This record gives sequence, structure tokens and C-alpha cells, in this order.
Amino acid sequence: MGQERLDKLLAATGRWSRREAKTLIREGRVLVGGRPALLPEGKADPEEEEILVDGTPLNWERYTYLMLNKPAGVVSATDDRRQKTVLDLLPPELQRRGLFPVGRLDRDTEGLLLLTNNGPLAHRLLAPRRHVDKRYYVELDGPVDKDDAAAFAAGMMLGGESCLPALLEPGEQPGQAFVTLHEGKFHQIKRMFFSRGRTVLYLKRMSMGPLTLDPQLQPGEFRNLFEEERQDLEKIMRE
Ligand code: URA
Repeated sequence: MGQERLDKLLAATGRWSRREAKTLIREGRVLVGGRPALLPEGKADPEEEEILVDGTPLNWERYTYLMLNKPAGVVSATDDRRQKTVLDLLPPELQRRGLFPVGRLDRDTEGLLLLTNNGPLAHRLLAPRRHVDKRYYVELDGPVDKDDAAAFAAGMMLGGESCLPALLEPGEQPGQAFVTLHEGKFHQIKRMFFSRGRTVLYLKRMSMGPLTLDPQLQPGEFRNLFEEERQDLEKIMRE
């Protein structure tokens, strides 16, 4: 990690704004390695030195990773003038951490969305050449059959663009299905079914790469990734 400005480190926890962090430092309430650090622009390495704020260790993490069960009706963006965004679902201290969604789900799509402030990781997860699998649960206005599955598997043409082969599996009921994509084109699943004469009535992402949506999370709820899940993601970074 190395040395970083102290006010920036405090603000990165989301507990304080940059301005509040500067005030805390100037008031002598922040100790680095046991000594008051009086200059906001002073530097510290949180992996090497103990940082205390009002006597409490700074809860510093290099990156934050949240698993969100995105509800319908919010957009996968960090800010939008008119519509509620996924960041609006978070408390203020998390809103200040510079989180962004890794990829997009349509406004009416529910399910797994990873929020992080780890740019390089997001970049890798989204890189087309990595083809990270995304699995969706779909409800349709009618049944799917073997011909639909064969068309998905063959790689469809959508608006002159060819899609990678996709897996279509029937669900328990006739209008239910699961689709696994290895890419993420605009409205891809809706358009794929539309080209087969079907309309998507409900869409939910169940998994993305090594992450599976936690069934305990209700729409709109989120949690930090477990250590194991973080490690699985980091493995992707090394591949
Ligand atoms: N395909 C869609 O059509 N919409 C989504 O949100 C995700 C995949």
C-alpha cells in the first residue's frame, strides 16, 4: 500500500468527510504510531503503523466489496439525476467509499450485483476476453423447448452482432428457465428470447463468476463479501 495522506485514509473509511477528517487531525485526535499527527497532508501507511482516532483503531480496509441483491426499480449507476441508483440503497458511510457496480443490470432486473471500489478487479471481471459466466433465472410468457436451447447454444445474431454460445436450461415450471451467458450485451437475455418469440417477464441474476447470490439477502439488502468469496475473486485477478 505504502504511504497515503492521512485525511484521505480517514475519509476512505466513509466515516468522515475529507473536511471532517482534516478537523480531527488538526485537533490532535488522530495518533499515528502513538504520536498526534497534526497535519492532514501528513502521510501514514495503515498496513505498517497503528492509526487511532479518539483512541479507537482506524477500521481501514484497502477495498470494499459488497454483494447486493439489486431490487427492481433502481439503476446500476453511481449517480443519476432522475432515478434512484444502487448507491442510494447504502448508508452514507458506504456511499462515501467510492463504490461502483461491477457491470450493469437493467432497471427492472433483480439479483446479484457486486459493488466495489477496486477498479482493477472490476476491469478484469468485465474484460470480454475473460468471459466470466453469469447465470440468470428467467420467467417468460410461455415455455421454452429444445429448439430454443439449440439456438442459444449455437450463438445467436442480435442486431447484426453475433453472441457467444449461451446455455439455456428449462426450470421447474414451463415458463421458467435458467440462462448462462459468457458476456453482457445490452438487454441481451431479453433480446435473445424476443428473437425466439418470447417475452421476459422477470429476470434475476443468480451468479457471476465465483459469486453466488446469498439466498438470505432480500431485494435491496447487501452484505460484505465473506473472506472466501474475496479470495475467489482475487484468484481471478491472478489468472
Ligand atoms: N440481460 C438482460 O436483458 N438484462 C439484464 O439486466 C441482464 C441480462
